[in-house]
Amino acid sequence: MLLPVIHSFTCERIHYFMNSYYTVNIHTDQIRINQFKSQNTKYICTLTFDNKIYWYTEQQKIHAFGIIVKKKVKFFKGNYKDLEEMRRLIGCKIIFDGIVSLYKCNNQIGEGADSKVFKVEDNINKSLWALKCLERKDDFYQEIRMHQNLEHNHIIQFKEYFQGEQYYYIIMELMGGQTLSKLLEKNLITTHQQCKVIIQALLSALVYLKNEGIIHRDIKPANIMFAQSGRLDSLKLVDFNFAIRQNDTNVQPILCGMNTAPEALQDNPIYSDKMDVYSCGAILYKLYSGEDIHPIRYMQESNVFYDILRNGSIDFKVLEKANTPNQAIRLIKSMLEIDPFKRVNAQEALQLDYFQNESLSPTEKRSRFQQRYQNESLKIGITTDFEINIDQDAKSANIRKMEIHHHHH
Ligand SMILES: Nc1ncnc2c1ncn2[C@@H]1O[C@H](COP(=O)(O)OP(=O)(O)O)[C@@H](O)[C@H]1O
Ligand SMILES: [Mg+2]
Repeated sequence: MLLPVIHSFTCERIHYFMNSYYTVNIHTDQIRINQFKSQNTKYICTLTFDNKIYWYTEQQKIHAFGIIVKKKVKFFKGNYKDLEEMRRLIGCKIIFDGIVSLYKCNNQIGEGADSKVFKVEDNINKSLWALKCLERKDDFYQEIRMHQNLEHNHIIQFKEYFQGEQYYYIIMELMGGQTLSKLLEKNLITTHQQCKVIIQALLSALVYLKNEGIIHRDIKPANIMFAQSGRLDSLKLVDFNFAIRQNDTNVQPILCGMNTAPEALQDNPIYSDKMDVYSCGAILYKLYSGEDIHPIRYMQESNVFYDILRNGSIDFKVLEKANTPNQAIRLIKSMLEIDPFKRVNAQEALQLDYFQNESLSPTEKRSRFQQRYQNESLKIGITTDFEINIDQDAKSANIRKMEIHHHHH
């Protein structure tokens, strides 16, 4: 059954003698290009990630879009307003080509194991975005597929996806604040109220993810960001690189991460929403105590490291020593319960008296923050000499330009 048309406009194909006109109908799941004002569909482009839309821009306006027909790109010229609306409507449903002409790449703002993140500017309306670049590997699709329908206050919003010669690109909302790991390093979380705002936001994201059947699997301070600096309630969960669906089989186990739940490291790992609860418990533990749940450093391929994570025994005295309120300790313990079946889920956690009780002093400073990290030089994950290879992609954009101009003459 054909889903309803959400936008419709006229476009033309430039030919040597006579141009031909078409009606473009955008449905929620496909684009149908009909002969002008007729029901005869000439081309269909389904909105899936194995499909691509090409954009042709000139003087900071979109002039045409292209689809692949018999291994060639066919361009259709249209009104820039219609084309922009089209771009907005299909943004996260299909892969785009032509990042170089649509965005200007500014400075690098972040880095992960397999990615670099840049600040970019939209050439058309000058708005600022974050661009995550990943080397072309298949797990890109994992990240965007898992993220596809998510929409929540505390989860990063994606805008569009591009494929270049060597990289995949995700355009997403730009976080104006820092990562939680940076705030921890800089000793900026100092009150009970701050801890509470953070964990409440995280748990509400988890309730949502559970309903959507998604497990994030990599919740840690480096993957938690703030949309606005100085506003902890603007917290957003980022990085769905390792996310899976609740009932996915054939899941790649994740390799490291101090906050990994013990059941995920068993020989037959159990993946459930409770894993993410555990990771959040580890974060709350750190917020209050300043310490990781295990007093060891991550060691690659070290059995000792994995044994410690797997066995899950945690010293909760550390929390008492840091004057953690009892309600907080109870919450942390129920989130760090070794047995996933006994562990609270996010919904239940939000019902605990930690969130109800107002008797805790909101501005109480925790003494442990004062000495930590004083002498450690801050490691900032930014390499200045990195040159992102958009060159290659720029070349193909030029080829495109020639194709279009060829049509004009
Ligand atoms: N939307 C964003 N706005 C600003 N910085 C971001 C954004 N997303 C990620 N970053 C920064 O880039 C780093 C790496 O991004 P992430 O998605 O976690 O990549 P990876 O999957 O490689 O870990 C983050 O830790 C953060 O510092
Ligand atoms: Mg990350």
